[in-house]
Amino acid sequence: MTAPRDLAVYIHWPFCLSKCPYCDFNSHVAETVDHSHWRDALLAELSHYAAQLPNRNIVSIFFGGGTPSLMAPATSAALIDAVAGHWSLADHVEITLEANPTSVEAGRFRDFRAAGINRLSIGVQALDDAALGFLGRGHDRTQAIEAVRLAGSIFPRTSFDLIYARPEQTVEAWTKELSEALAMGPEHLSLYQLTIERGTPFYAAHRRGDFQIPAEDLGGALYEVTQELCEKRGLPAYEISNHARPGSECRHNLVYWTGGDYVGIGPGAHGRLSMAEAIFATEQIPGPAGWLDAVAAKGHGTRKFEALDAATRVEEILMMGLRLRDGLTRDAFQLAAAHEFEDVLEPRRLRRLIDANYLEIDARGLRATGDGLIRLNAVLAALLA
Ligand SMILES: C[S@@+](CC[C@H](N)C(=O)[O-])C[C@H]1O[C@@H](n2cnc3c(N)ncnc32)[C@H](O)[C@@H]1O
Ligand code: SF4
Repeated sequence: MTAPRDLAVYIHWPFCLSKCPYCDFNSHVAETVDHSHWRDALLAELSHYAAQLPNRNIVSIFFGGGTPSLMAPATSAALIDAVAGHWSLADHVEITLEANPTSVEAGRFRDFRAAGINRLSIGVQALDDAALGFLGRGHDRTQAIEAVRLAGSIFPRTSFDLIYARPEQTVEAWTKELSEALAMGPEHLSLYQLTIERGTPFYAAHRRGDFQIPAEDLGGALYEVTQELCEKRGLPAYEISNHARPGSECRHNLVYWTGGDYVGIGPGAHGRLSMAEAIFATEQIPGPAGWLDAVAAKGHGTRKFEALDAATRVEEILMMGLRLRDGLTRDAFQLAAAHEFEDVLEPRRLRRLIDANYLEIDARGLRATGDGLIRLNAVLAALLA
């Protein structure tokens, strides 16, 4: 038998206590959730995929959402046990749960740790009560700080998220807030610029002119100060929005960014699976009720299971891998895209981007420079045009 191929497992919990006005994730507010029904359905879909993916080595399990900290801890325990039953677990398997910092959820952190979660990712979003109100969050600054402190005393690894480039946020105000966050001693931080997503309440409010988000030059200045401050405090960016002490990077997200395999379980979850015939893109039915019905009827809620053509695969590997500060190594690109960079990149376009100091290529691989990372979308458009 060949050595097992690495695989990450993503499990989506689609419910939240309330819907934040900026968020376009697949999340829903439900009056009641039948936890044992959901546990059984998630377990069924996991078994369905496990039957198609023999001989895999699990490097990560990630409970995302929605708000998976609203899941019964027993559900996460059952799913972790089932993953361990279907496949082998890597020695230092990373098992992450996304959590909101309300006091109710913090009260269950110990139960999640006992269930096997070894990394908690907390949605702090802001350390300013007015900003938390604007973002429609169900927690305040004090609860967020307490949740981070408590998580640090329970979980071997933690991270928290902040949203910056908020309306009227100055470089000075963000510097102060980020300094405060860094003083809390995190090993990992996800720092996202606020984006206005179509279909959200913020989209309509922004169009009405209720608020404005920072213009491009202020956004750039906020990004620069973020890089400088985090670097100075020992948490350099390893991806556009993610910072870590060396060695504390999120292994699950690295699987996405380096073109590894992951199976997606639960409503709306996506997967990338290399099989003997091809690499398949999978997608589960997004609506919770439709997904549950499909699982009851046939054991899974898959709505897409499509082989990726070579050009699409190359494109997605470049789009993901160039987000990383270290870019893509030649080995990672060869493994994920089955090509050398020189076989697939148009030489003149590549040369122009290298001459403009947006990309670098050498024996190690291909990467964006600092200037390239700031304008990565434009760089990718020029590279892949
Ligand atoms: C699935 S969500 C969070 C999980 C958890 N329910 C929470 O709210 O903390 C993942 C992260 O995406 C970020 N996010 C979501 N929508 C965003 C937006 N429109 N702009 C910037 N960041 C966003 C937030 O920082 C959030 O913590
Ligand atoms: S940001 Fe988190 S809590 Fe808010 S709606 Fe989105 S997934 Fe739910």
